[in-house]
Amino acid sequence: MDMSSGLSLLLNRRSCHALTGPAPCGEALDLIFRAALRVPDFLRLRPFRFLVATGDGLDRLGEAMLRAALAAGKPAEVVERAPRMPHRAPMVITVVASPKISDVVPVFDQHLAAGCTVMAMQMAAQGLGFGGVWRSGWFMHDDGFHRELGLAAGERIVGFLYLGTPRHPPEPPPAEDPSPLIHWL
Ligand SMILES: Cc1cc2nc3c(=O)[nH]c(=O)nc-3n(C[C@H](O)[C@H](O)[C@H](O)COP(=O)(O)O)c2cc1C
Repeated sequence: MDMSSGLSLLLNRRSCHALTGPAPCGEALDLIFRAALRVPDFLRLRPFRFLVATGDGLDRLGEAMLRAALAAGKPAEVVERAPRMPHRAPMVITVVASPKISDVVPVFDQHLAAGCTVMAMQMAAQGLGFGGVWRSGWFMHDDGFHRELGLAAGERIVGFLYLGTPRHPPEPPPAEDPSPLIHWL
């Protein structure tokens, strides 16, 4: 089979949890965001936006997480860990689903489009030699944290995309048989 580079990227996508600098910047980062814009987007509503943290921005994101943890009455170990969470990578992109009013496109569909941007950006980063992991956690669903980040009513976070340079060469993905998941109608 002719394995185009696009198919190869799909079949070999890996998450990378151990990330260090440099983070993508300049043209590479621009390409990553362009990949996000190529997700399927019914009526091109652009129901997403991206909050990018790097450098001091990671400190600010961590401080927002700390304040949200305190406001939510989280246990001491969660509060203590909160400001360090974003520092697991040199860049964190908080992906916000920002549904638009539409008689045609349900909010759920718009959330799906926003989710697709996370994977598109992760894959673009991998294709450029960077690594990334899509993370969630309780912050993602916390109203106090949403307020900290200035989310509007109706906006949701669909993921935190941690990006950087892999500390180790990526392992090849495990071979897996999809057939148990497939049912022909
Ligand atoms: C919505 C969503 C949230 C996730 N949240 C986390 C998370 O908080 N922590 C984590 O380790 N993995 C999380 N994952 C899974 C990783 O992104 C990753 O898929 C997993 O580590 C398996 O690695 P692989 O992508 O190389 O197969 C999440 C995935 C999705 C789709």
